[in-house]
Amino acid sequence: MTRGRADKQTGAVKDIHAIYYGERASAGLQFTEGTLISRQGHGWSGAPDIYSKEQIEAWQAVTAAVHKANGVIFCQLAHSGRACHSDVTGHPIVSASAIPVSGEATGLNHEKKPYEVPRALTVEEIAVIVGDFATAAKNSIEAGFDGVQLHSANGFLIGQFTQSCSNQRTDGRVRRLDREPSSLLQGGACRSRRCHRQAACVDPLEPQQAPSMTWARKTTLRPLTLRSSWPHRSRLLGLSCSTALPLGSTRRAPYTLEQARAAIASVDPKSQTALAGNVGYTLETAEKAISEGRADIITFGRPFMSNPDLPERFRDGAVLAPDSQYPDWWVNDTAEGYITFPRATAAA
Ligand SMILES: Cc1cc2nc3c(=O)[nH]c(=O)nc-3n(C[C@H](O)[C@H](O)[C@H](O)COP(=O)(O)O)c2cc1C
Repeated sequence: MTRGRADKQTGAVKDIHAIYYGERASAGLQFTEGTLISRQGHGWSGAPDIYSKEQIEAWQAVTAAVHKANGVIFCQLAHSGRACHSDVTGHPIVSASAIPVSGEATGLNHEKKPYEVPRALTVEEIAVIVGDFATAAKNSIEAGFDGVQLHSANGFLIGQFTQSCSNQRTDGRVRRLDREPSSLLQGGACRSRRCHRQAACVDPLEPQQAPSMTWARKTTLRPLTLRSSWPHRSRLLGLSCSTALPLGSTRRAPYTLEQARAAIASVDPKSQTALAGNVGYTLETAEKAISEGRADIITFGRPFMSNPDLPERFRDGAVLAPDSQYPDWWVNDTAEGYITFPRATAAA
């Protein structure tokens, strides 16, 4: 879960990250916050990266803390593409096509600025990004992660290639929406030594209107987009779907786990990929979704931010702490609101 607390100059995680992830090691599997594969893809102020030696070494403290507490952790690899501002990256903004996100980007000091018109990547530049994904996957293993997750959701670069509102290229190879993102990972993370430990987090929806990032506008589950977002060798597919409200949306989730399963089957009837659902689940609704076979895994986001011992609280029927405050999500960059949530036993 992105929190914006990495070193703003170096992109390296800090001691507080090791405490944060170590405290949550009782989760069956943790995914890191979106971690950027290059400075060009650096999405927001305080985001962590994984392309330099210093960044890899900083992550080693995090993985060590998680492993010490018998946890498992995957690094979520991302490139933000057009969904950031050049003030933050220090590089011109790039994407599949020269189409900006509508609305406002967040600048270095959380000020709002209009999104810039991205420059369409050349085929040669795409090859460089494929290489950056490969390197980031290798770096993740060197940093001690148990696997990697490709961030193909939330309007980042992979999604910008899979969605026609942001990809209007006419050059054949890259326009093939059913190929390019898969090959991104195959050219990247799949070549890492632990290619069986991959997951993907996808958002296979076609926005009704171009070209916003907002979830409320996305309406239709598209098997083609699912196919292109989802590297078939990955063992775990994460989808934001439940019957609860999507994060920040005022509408019902645009598709259900059943529809997602059907879409996966239409792509690969023999799929062995586990399906993870999320957004707004409680212990009860999660257990129901799993016992009814609608999902293999349910992931928890916001409840884990304020309840580092969430599995133990579920087990013991303990009361959950309320969600953390919005400014502590992305704006504040201190230990406060990050590692200041006590365990139930300590709070009692
Ligand atoms: C503060 C915050 C940061 C998030 N960062 C990420 C992220 O880096 N990568 C990601 O895949 N999802 C991210 N999400 C989405 C969550 O993974 C999850 O889909 C969302 O919180 C809904 O699940 P929940 O209802 O259990 O919180 C973030 C959500 C929040 C609230």
